[in-house]
Amino acid sequence: MKKPNLIYLFIIVFFLGSCSVNQKTADLQTEFANGAVVTAHPLASEVGVEILKKGGNAVDAAIAVKFALAVVYPNAGNLGGGGFMVYRAKDGQISSLDFREKAPSKAFKDMYLDQNGNPITDLSLYGQLAAGVPGSVGGMDEAFKKYGSLPWKDLLQPAIDLASKGFALTKQQAGEFNRYQERFKKFNPNGAAIIRDAEWKEGDNFVQSELAETLKRIAELGRDGFYKGKTAEFIVAEMKRGNGIISLKDLEDYQAAWRDPIVGMYKNHKIISMPPPSSGGVALMALLQSVENYPLKKWGFQSDSTVRAMVEAERRVYADRATHLGDPDFYRVPVANLTDAKFNQERMSKVSLEKATPSDDVKASKFPGYESEQTTHYSIVDKEGNAVSLTTTINGSYGSLVWVDGAGFLLNNEMDDFSVKPGSPNMYGLLGGKANSVEPGKRMLSAMTPTIVEEDGKLKMVVGTPGGSTIITSVFQTILNVLEFDMTAQESVSAARFHHQWKPDVVDAEEGAIDEKTRQSLSEDGYKINERSPIGRVENIVILKNGKLQTGADHRGDDRAVGY
Ligand code: DON
Repeated sequence: MKKPNLIYLFIIVFFLGSCSVNQKTADLQTEFANGAVVTAHPLASEVGVEILKKGGNAVDAAIAVKFALAVVYPNAGNLGGGGFMVYRAKDGQISSLDFREKAPSKAFKDMYLDQNGNPITDLSLYGQLAAGVPGSVGGMDEAFKKYGSLPWKDLLQPAIDLASKGFALTKQQAGEFNRYQERFKKFNPNGAAIIRDAEWKEGDNFVQSELAETLKRIAELGRDGFYKGKTAEFIVAEMKRGNGIISLKDLEDYQAAWRDPIVGMYKNHKIISMPPPSSGGVALMALLQSVENYPLKKWGFQSDSTVRAMVEAERRVYADRATHLGDPDFYRVPVANLTDAKFNQERMSKVSLEKATPSDDVKASKFPGYESEQTTHYSIVDKEGNAVSLTTTINGSYGSLVWVDGAGFLLNNEMDDFSVKPGSPNMYGLLGGKANSVEPGKRMLSAMTPTIVEEDGKLKMVVGTPGGSTIITSVFQTILNVLEFDMTAQESVSAARFHHQWKPDVVDAEEGAIDEKTRQSLSEDGYKINERSPIGRVENIVILKNGKLQTGADHRGDDRAVGY
């Protein structure tokens, strides 16, 4: 197996500040009357709110935030990656947009294996060959065509200003930039704005002139400013420097896709989430259905029984994910079977909560007729009540580590989200098979779970997070924190989290998650608990009964809610 750089990725990205969680929770708690934007960076949140104040709608703000994050949050915000958006209009109409990266046309099933059929370490993770055809600009172009109301150029201008005039680095960012310098130099011999000999410090002004020019081309020409002409030529030249395979035609052909969201009920709440090629919505729905019949509220937050029920559900749902989920344009995903409440509840009714079920004893379900950490999320609600839940990624922190020379943006390493070989885990330890094998033009399976929740037909919650395989379980916990354990938006985000993904057979727990007594009782019954670095960076907006927007920005990063 690849020895991922998983641990340091998460430690670096999710460095936990020194002040107490409770203090942070209290400081970050905010409520707004008109509109709210919660993102991973204060400047991006401000850009979004300015657009709302100018009369833009939630999608206008989402587009402006997307481009702003590409400037102020380069480890995950991106032009060179992709993502998913779930939208709910004020009248309850819903849609979801898939702007996931695609495998280039020259990709093939065994492209990351050596002559003996073993994965070549790091080939799907770093360098030009790790990159899928970027979807972000195509996605924003589609979102704008369908819902945009302000001029396109106005949505790009804040990002152009931030790139050309620069912005002050946060302490976390300066530290990360310094820690990555050697790796950046290795993959970018011609230099990049982020590369310099002097140490970066908090407050340093970070200017990205090439990126500003790329953003200007997109402002001027829309998607053609990225997928054709100068920017496309820069990308293809970058490919040639490092054995990459993205061609001009791959870029020109890229299209984002509107898909029907996953919709299901958890008690009196409608869950609206992302369908394949993300596994997020299917798995989230299956998890909620699996625990629906347990008295979680009575058992309490992270009580012994609650943790057992959630972990046993996660073990089974992730086993199904590994076999059955992939790009629906290439593989028939049994969505209806996997999100059938009766199926999930009957399965759980046979599960003992007395002892851990070894993951080796849990196999993917069989349905007749079927074979066989860097990302960022933001949540926006505008004054009309339109809501956007959007998660976007270049996969690992700083993606493939390759900046497109001349164009100033990072390329993703999303190809690692394919199953490069059955039984060989990806950087998040996730397994897969035929459903998620590499094929030209196919989208790699994702765990991203941008989600909107209704209560009795009204907008209730807009939520999502980064975190690779932990995305689904983090959204699952945050929803239960609000719906079952009566937490505020900020408490639901700040609460410590845990995670199980079938294989490896361990319960990952953040510091503070699952109290000592419960950990001991779980260990005695066969649960292996692994203390790990912080999990996820959830952004949540809860719509209160009085109509106010209560926000939760994750204290694990520089994340911030801004509203008015
Ligand atoms: O699409 C996915 O599921 C992954 N590429 C997401 C990666 C991620 O969340 C990294 N963030 N910490």
